[in-house]
Amino acid sequence: MKVWWIKPTLSILILFIPATLGWGKEGHYATCKIAQSLLTEEATKAVKELLPESEGNLSAVCSWPDEIKWMNKWRWTSELHYVDTPDFRCNYDYDRDCHDSSGVKDRCVTGAIYNYTEQLVTGYNASNSVTNYNLTEALMFLSHYIGDVHQPLHVSFTTDEGGNTITVRWYKRKTNLHHVWDSDIIESAMKTFYDKDLNVMISAIEKNMTTTWSNDISSWANCTSAEEVCPDPWASESIKCSCNYAYRNATPGSTLGDEYFLSRLPVVEMRLAQGGVRLAATLNQIFTPYASVSQKLAYFGNIQPKPHMT
Ligand SMILES: *[C@@H]1O[C@H](CO)[C@@H](O)[C@H](O)[C@H]1NC(C)=O
Ligand SMILES: *[C@@H]1O[C@H](CO)[C@@H](O)[C@H](O)[C@H]1NC(C)=O
Ligand SMILES: *[C@@H]1O[C@H](CO)[C@@H](O)[C@H](O)[C@H]1NC(C)=O
Ligand SMILES: *[C@@H]1O[C@H](CO)[C@@H](O)[C@H](O)[C@H]1NC(C)=O
Ligand SMILES: *[C@@H]1O[C@H](CO)[C@@H](O)[C@H](O)[C@H]1NC(C)=O
Ligand SMILES: *[C@@H]1O[C@H](CO)[C@@H](O)[C@H](O)[C@H]1NC(C)=O
Repeated sequence: MKVWWIKPTLSILILFIPATLGWGKEGHYATCKIAQSLLTEEATKAVKELLPESEGNLSAVCSWPDEIKWMNKWRWTSELHYVDTPDFRCNYDYDRDCHDSSGVKDRCVTGAIYNYTEQLVTGYNASNSVTNYNLTEALMFLSHYIGDVHQPLHVSFTTDEGGNTITVRWYKRKTNLHHVWDSDIIESAMKTFYDKDLNVMISAIEKNMTTTWSNDISSWANCTSAEEVCPDPWASESIKCSCNYAYRNATPGSTLGDEYFLSRLPVVEMRLAQGGVRLAATLNQIFTPYASVSQKLAYFGNIQPKPHMT
């Protein structure tokens, strides 16, 4: 009896929680805005060609995969926003973990990142004049999923659905742990520190990229994989962050306040920065094949955006 009553209730509820599977709008906007200013001239040009309506403005389209995943036509994409790992293991393994809920391999956020990178790489190779794929969609998916894989709770435990089933209070308001990491931390930070303005917050993150993190940027961007993109180490970082910061002291029913907020905010800000740097590095790699890895690292070691090899 209970079971059939619960089922329809759940599916109705699901319609009303569209923000629960990805950085919220703000997080994706931030990742893509940070990436945009790090693109090479060639990558900027390619992005403009692929996004004619928004005139190459990446941050205008980075939430698109969240907007469409509820539609019948796109429902199959909803499992590509995250990857579930075994409970309490605190590690990630592509072969073990990257599958959807019915076990189909490669259907998870890291699989999707490989997929859409590959589509853009082959589509942008002048020797292949025809592609079967819509590269505008490939770019929007790739930009979104690189953001998602940096949200720690998108690479987290299976049973609690990445913190979605862990009910907590964020200050006085009832929410769940996943939503705290998607949106609540960012929104509280905007109110408390950044004049309620996301662009002010992004500028503060960008400022840290030239100071606190300036020596880290080139290792963030370091990706020597033959696949031109490195989602596996990024996912491994996320599950570590989930265990060390997101789940810690956030048991079901707990109230999260200043202590949690102030200690986790720097983690969120660093993940947004890393997502932005890596999205830019990936797009630059796809659209501006570098002569060598060392050139790429030199470029990201000096993060002032400059036209590359014109
Ligand atoms: C890019 O798009 C965002 C979101 O639509 C908008 O707020 C921003 O002003 C746009 N930026 C430019 C340079 O057009
Ligand atoms: C790869 O992209 C194509 C085109 O969008 C899609 O049909 C396919 O399901 C995708 N696979 C994965 C693993 O993302
Ligand atoms: C472009 O495609 C051709 C033919 O498929 C391949 O031989 C070449 O290595 C590709 N170039 C790049 C840069 O991927
Ligand atoms: C590619 O996808 C975009 C977004 O879904 C759509 O607006 C556009 O018409 C598509 N292009 C083609 C050639 O199908
Ligand atoms: C900038 O770095 C400092 C020092 O690590 C850190 O305390 C602060 O939270 C960071 N701010 C942002 C916006 O990332
Ligand atoms: C980049 O990564 C490769 C492979 O993991 C490593 O051997 C190399 O030392 C790294 N380089 C830098 C500058 O971090």
